[in-house]
Amino acid sequence: MQKKFYITTPIYYVNDVPHIGHACTTIAADVLARYHRLAGEEVLFLTGTDEHGSKIAQAAAKDHKTPQEFCDEIAPKFEENWKKLNISYDYFIRTTNPGHEKVVQDLILKIKENGYIYEDTYKGLYCVGCEAFKTTDELLDNKCLEHPNKELEQYEEKNYFLAIRKIITENPKAFEKLAYSFPESKRNEMLAKIAGLETDVSISRANVEWGIKIPWDSSQTIYVWFDALINYFSATQILKKPNMWPADLHLVGKGINWFHTVIWQSMLLAAKIELPKKIFAHSHYNVAGQKMSKSIGNVISPEELMAKFGVEATRYLIAKSFPGNDDSDITWEQLINTYNADLANNLGNLVSRLNRLADKLEIDCSSSLVLSEKFTAYLDNLDFSGAIENILRELIDPVNVLLNQKTPWMLPFEDKNRQEILRHCIQETVKAGYQLQVFMPNIAKEIIERLGKGRVVHKKEGLFPRI
Ligand code: MSP
Repeated sequence: MQKKFYITTPIYYVNDVPHIGHACTTIAADVLARYHRLAGEEVLFLTGTDEHGSKIAQAAAKDHKTPQEFCDEIAPKFEENWKKLNISYDYFIRTTNPGHEKVVQDLILKIKENGYIYEDTYKGLYCVGCEAFKTTDELLDNKCLEHPNKELEQYEEKNYFLAIRKIITENPKAFEKLAYSFPESKRNEMLAKIAGLETDVSISRANVEWGIKIPWDSSQTIYVWFDALINYFSATQILKKPNMWPADLHLVGKGINWFHTVIWQSMLLAAKIELPKKIFAHSHYNVAGQKMSKSIGNVISPEELMAKFGVEATRYLIAKSFPGNDDSDITWEQLINTYNADLANNLGNLVSRLNRLADKLEIDCSSSLVLSEKFTAYLDNLDFSGAIENILRELIDPVNVLLNQKTPWMLPFEDKNRQEILRHCIQETVKAGYQLQVFMPNIAKEIIERLGKGRVVHKKEGLFPRI
């Protein structure tokens, strides 16, 4: 039977345009989706937009639009942005999709029937920026750490609650180890938070109009996170691909790990639905040592990167600096250096050299069109910079060294030795190109067109102009 791979990104709020924080998750998911497709698996790659809740309603009001009009305008912009970045998602889910709304209502009813929802009064603080209730230990000077410029809202209202403490007690195995949650350091943070858990989670709001109604009480709207998390499951229902569930990998940023690792798991356990196989919470980007934020004015957008480096190199640079286990600090200077060193001077220059030296040579590269085990092991661990370094250090560098040592350009074109050296160099470079296609699909195709199709085709244009 064909293996399946279902991978998701978070669904992004439509009140903002994507920045590299959003782009790194989406590009990482795209790299993995492309890899699993190459491995012959049936892949479902899901991304989309999170469209309900106060934050979106407020952004729409500011723009003098209804929330629906506002979302209908912005959601396609996200799709356009992802298409520009050559993101190969299979389905784009919007939480205003009626198919999704129906699944959310069915699921909340099922959880209620199973006895995990109760009514109580919620009293406390709410951060619209996070769309989350805050406890005092999550605040600094009475302000949300993530949104220090936003006033917190004080609530006291009747809400429905999800009995997560009961769910955790009833499923000790599922929560004891959180075995699906990676990396380990972030799993430990979640385990500590579970151990200190003192309250259940409110899953409805009384005075929020923009959202999905609680099916048994139309005065209440389903809490935006409860609605949003279900997208991963509802997509498989909308697409009539129930075989795709459970998801093989939810890729999320560390800031939303709790919602995925603990709340989403609780919802699924309460609804008696199988758990996802893996949740990977990556770290964040900082820009020149500072947190990336609108108020500091240091936000880097994929648009700006694409304008400077082009689409393919932007994907490469983001993948190489992907904040996996640790936060990743980036600066424009460092991005330019990496571009010049890895792409213009190294890979691009090598392809041009080989192109010139081996013009019209016939070389069989069929055995180069493979993913090496080492390379895929890096990808399986979401170590994208490791995967890239592996190609540079084990394929590109040795080819450069060999060329410089053997100087085949000193030998006559027909010389057997010259042809042997070039054959080896080209086969190795095509191997690099083939694997690089998960990061730079079009450049990889171009490398294979020029060097790997049986007869070398010389093209003058370099792959990466120096910056
Ligand atoms: N709508 C929710 C997710 C719902 S998923 C069911 C949301 N959306 S978001 O638009 O705020 O995007 C969040 C994603 O961007 C998260 O994965 C978050 O961690 C990531 N990032 C936000 N800032 C980031 C950095 N500076 N660096 C890397 N990723 C960061 O939350």
